Amino acid sequence: MVRIKSIVGNNFSGKTCILRLDLNIPLSEDGEILDDTRILESIPTIDYLINQSAKVIIISHIGRPKGKFNKNYSFKPLIQDISKRINREIFFIEHKNQSKISTILDSQPSGTLFLLDNVRFNEGEENSNPDFIDFLSSFSDVFINDGFGTIHRNHSSITGITNKLPSFGGILLEKEIINITECISAKSSNSTAILGGSKISDKIPIIENLSNNFEKVIITGGMIRPFLIASDKLKQKNISEIKEEIFYAEKILQKHSQIYVPEQLVCSENINEEPIILHSSQINDSDLIFDIGPNSIDDIGKMILESDKIIWNGPPGVYENKNFSNGTKKLINFIVNSKSKLKVAGGGSTVASINYYKASDYFSHISTGGGAFLRLLEGKFLEGIEVLKDE
Ligand code: 3PG
Repeated sequence: MVRIKSIVGNNFSGKTCILRLDLNIPLSEDGEILDDTRILESIPTIDYLINQSAKVIIISHIGRPKGKFNKNYSFKPLIQDISKRINREIFFIEHKNQSKISTILDSQPSGTLFLLDNVRFNEGEENSNPDFIDFLSSFSDVFINDGFGTIHRNHSSITGITNKLPSFGGILLEKEIINITECISAKSSNSTAILGGSKISDKIPIIENLSNNFEKVIITGGMIRPFLIASDKLKQKNISEIKEEIFYAEKILQKHSQIYVPEQLVCSENINEEPIILHSSQINDSDLIFDIGPNSIDDIGKMILESDKIIWNGPPGVYENKNFSNGTKKLINFIVNSKSKLKVAGGGSTVASINYYKASDYFSHISTGGGAFLRLLEGKFLEGIEVLKDE
């Protein structure tokens, strides 16, 4: 297992620390915070540093403003809401010149928390510009990364800055790495991975990696159709749009015997029409698959209940629509009731569905990462982790 240089056990008293978080949080059109998980999960590291009387400058991105100021992606209107959630006063810092920022930092005592506006307002963030790296590192003695969701990005505030300052991983980052790698790396003959999403090509490296240590890999979501066509269980006349997906599905099926594809499905020609339960052999070109049928979900349930480790990414159906929610609801229920001690889930819609059914307490770990979680499941090198490795 990868070990990173951890903040735990180190003393940051009297130091100024740049703390990289992933505060890329979903907002409503009115700018309300729709999900505060990433804020709440960063509290242990903030508390650890502030309780040691460190001065802490939080840096993060939100959205993709492409290197320019854009008021829709500023942290300024969110300061009160973030501050309330972490129960601490926060001093907001706009992107100004170095000496102005230093004056603001010097005017406050140790133990103060600051938040610099969106790092992606500067184009030097995403292209690892040395001047921007110098600018960020000039305010601080130490760099700490606790933004797991961005750990797959090779940006100034994630990798570049580690060349300038002594660097550590925060409490959330360590928790994510330990829990996810423990689940995917332990070999088990009784284990289930559930993978959704629509593009098989994106999931090939994950399926390849998980097939080494998981007994069953269950396919859900948009990948079901090409897998069923590839295994000759669904006859589709016009395959031009998913030809490539079918090709990838065939390759995977030839190589990995542990793939399970549900064959009873909940379909409709349109999401607003009445659902109909069909076996894959009855599905026509015009039937769209919106959920897994009751027999197939019960088969999946039998595997899950007996598994000793479970990893999940991708809800089986359109759970927000009551006609197509049964698969997701039952899948979560099976995971909750499984004898497994390792129950790990991640990805935006997966976590939203767990929260929707108020089941988060029953998982051993729910990742705050989207793309970063998937990259870790591939078992590959992650830029932001590499630079924090404890050799
Ligand atoms: C995420 O939400 O997955 C992270 O914050 C990364 O955001 P990005 O894909 O814009 O780099």
